[in-house]
Amino acid sequence: MIPGPTIVSPRVLRALSKPILSHVSGEFVDGYAEGLALQKQLFMTEGTPFMLSGSGTLGMEAAISNLMEKGDKVLCVENGYFGEKWEEVVETHGGVADRLRFEWGEAVDLKQLEEKLGSNEYKLFTVEHVDTSTGIANPVDKIGKLAENTDTLYVVDSVCGLGGMPLKMDQWNIDFCLTGSQKALGAPPGISLFCLNQKAWNVVDKRKTTPTDYYVNLKKWKPVMDNPRGYFATPAVGNVLGMLEALKIIFEEGLEARWARHKKFSEAFLAGVKAMGWGSFPAKGHEAHTLTVPKVPQGVDDAKMRGLMFQKYGVVIAGGLGKLGGKTVRVGHMGADTVNDLVATLASMEMSLTEMGLISEPGKALGAMMKVFAK
Ligand SMILES: Cc1ncc(COP(=O)(O)O)c(C=O)c1O
Repeated sequence: MIPGPTIVSPRVLRALSKPILSHVSGEFVDGYAEGLALQKQLFMTEGTPFMLSGSGTLGMEAAISNLMEKGDKVLCVENGYFGEKWEEVVETHGGVADRLRFEWGEAVDLKQLEEKLGSNEYKLFTVEHVDTSTGIANPVDKIGKLAENTDTLYVVDSVCGLGGMPLKMDQWNIDFCLTGSQKALGAPPGISLFCLNQKAWNVVDKRKTTPTDYYVNLKKWKPVMDNPRGYFATPAVGNVLGMLEALKIIFEEGLEARWARHKKFSEAFLAGVKAMGWGSFPAKGHEAHTLTVPKVPQGVDDAKMRGLMFQKYGVVIAGGLGKLGGKTVRVGHMGADTVNDLVATLASMEMSLTEMGLISEPGKALGAMMKVFAK
């Protein structure tokens, strides 16, 4: 129950266990094309989908190395660990990173962002949909309104959002959006998925220099994405077919139903945590639906609790990331996770805390959670 990699359905595991096909076999080429078509529906875009071997970070690298040239200014909107990662990617590729920083756990302030974008000095700006370090969900829809009338490209990292929370790339004026296979999409790590629209392509076309990364040069990959019988580098055939199965599962459930399920997961788990007397780290009303990040109360050894949860009940949750180590824990509830998984997680948390002598009424949190599920 960590916030990725997440549980993978047996259907996806079966797809992964097929004999390895040639990357130009009809079966694989058709599967890749079908996966790319579903990817466009998932991102809700008419833009170009890319499905490549790599993790979420590859999508970040693809955005920066293709959309930006050396010396260009990039605005990195930061309110967590992953938001801050962008500046490193920008600087690695010779860009100039300007930071719009908010406290970890606070949402992006739209007024401040509007002012920054008004200066028109940025080639692109980056925003986290969900920052997995804090459990915050940023208002990517409202930010899209600010992006509508600027030349600055709007780049969104939805590694921990897409498939679990609404994201409407075209409607929200997002020019480049990326995610990874291992979170709310319910596939194993290894596939990087991203899309870019015509406005982003125009920037790629007008480059004076070649992209600063060879593998992820989008112009080299575009013909393969248009017709997966082509070749630039060997695709991870097994992972692509696993990804295809996960995408089919998403559309069998339906996007709206899936978003509603994740919203319910979030409300229910949060109610349980609060009934235990724990607070929630992200700002109220801005909690992601894909994970819950409770604050660890003073005097609670979260490492001990997590150890007991794993050893006695086989439940794995994550500790706080970076400077939030020991201050928060992170519980993922996304992708193929079910109500049963949430029940087992909260119950094991309560039982471990009871054993540690820290709560006296086990079942209270579980009861509060079940009331939300029963509504
Ligand atoms: C919000 C967010 N962005 C980017 C990444 C980087 O993705 P990856 O670890 O798949 O490279 C992660 C990883 O957890 C993430 O949660």
